[in-house]
Amino acid sequence: MNTAVHNFLFNIYPYICLAIFLMGSLARFDRDQYTWKSDSSQLLRAGQLRWGSNLFHGGILFLFFGHLFGQLTPHWLYEIFVTASQKQLVAVVAGGVAGVLCFIGLTLLLHRRLFDPRIRLTSHRTDIAILIILWVQLVIGLVTLPYSFGHTDASAMLVLADWAQRIVTFRPNADGLLALDWPYMIHLILGMTIFLLFPFSRLVHVWSGFATVAFLFRPYQIMRSRRLNVPPGHNLPRQSDASV
Ligand code: HEM
Repeated sequence: MNTAVHNFLFNIYPYICLAIFLMGSLARFDRDQYTWKSDSSQLLRAGQLRWGSNLFHGGILFLFFGHLFGQLTPHWLYEIFVTASQKQLVAVVAGGVAGVLCFIGLTLLLHRRLFDPRIRLTSHRTDIAILIILWVQLVIGLVTLPYSFGHTDASAMLVLADWAQRIVTFRPNADGLLALDWPYMIHLILGMTIFLLFPFSRLVHVWSGFATVAFLFRPYQIMRSRRLNVPPGHNLPRQSDASV
């Protein structure tokens, strides 16, 4: 790959995607709250959704947190407990299982969205596009697994983690990525693009999904009747009614 293109894709494009992801989500929440939803299609057809959605969401949440902690935990911190090769083995096996479950779920979701006429008709273009993009991203992620098994010294994982940690700490340097195989590169570019498209799709519901954790810590809701000065027991049958 041309050096200038490589530099743009892995040192500049990540910041474009992150900026649009954050600012775009804020703007959408501020301007368009009625469109801020997961747009469930459960009312149109529940059957295939139950398996599809649960397998997909279980898998993708595992993969999301796996990527987050796996990529961003500094090497010096985890090497107290495990070697890089052991960490890679756990990542490849656990990520592989979650990836396959997610793949089955996502394929079911994509199938019902494309081939159920009611769901197809009520789908927005971005609903279909985002499912296809996630599907391709997942397949490329699974394609990287044999390549990672090939590097038992965890060299690819270390290069990828170093690049990601440099991005989030504003010290970009993508030179190490030049040595990686093509599926890793495509996986990175498409992964960043998903962040870019996030605010323009139903994916905004992910923010709300994570925000529901706050429910665990919020105070109880106090429910009060809107009718004031109503005597206690007003809703019970009256004595005269009971004797009739
Ligand atoms: C954080 C927790 C999350 C919650 C609570 C949540 C909730 C939901 C709900 C309620 C739906 C509507 C369809 C259904 O009933 O299953 C949905 C659909 C969807 N979610 Fe999530 N979600 C979460 C995380 C994610 C993540 C991390 C992704 C991907 C990056 C994702 C991608 C999708 C997609 C693509 C659909 C549409 C599926 C379809 O075609 O019907 N969600 N989600």
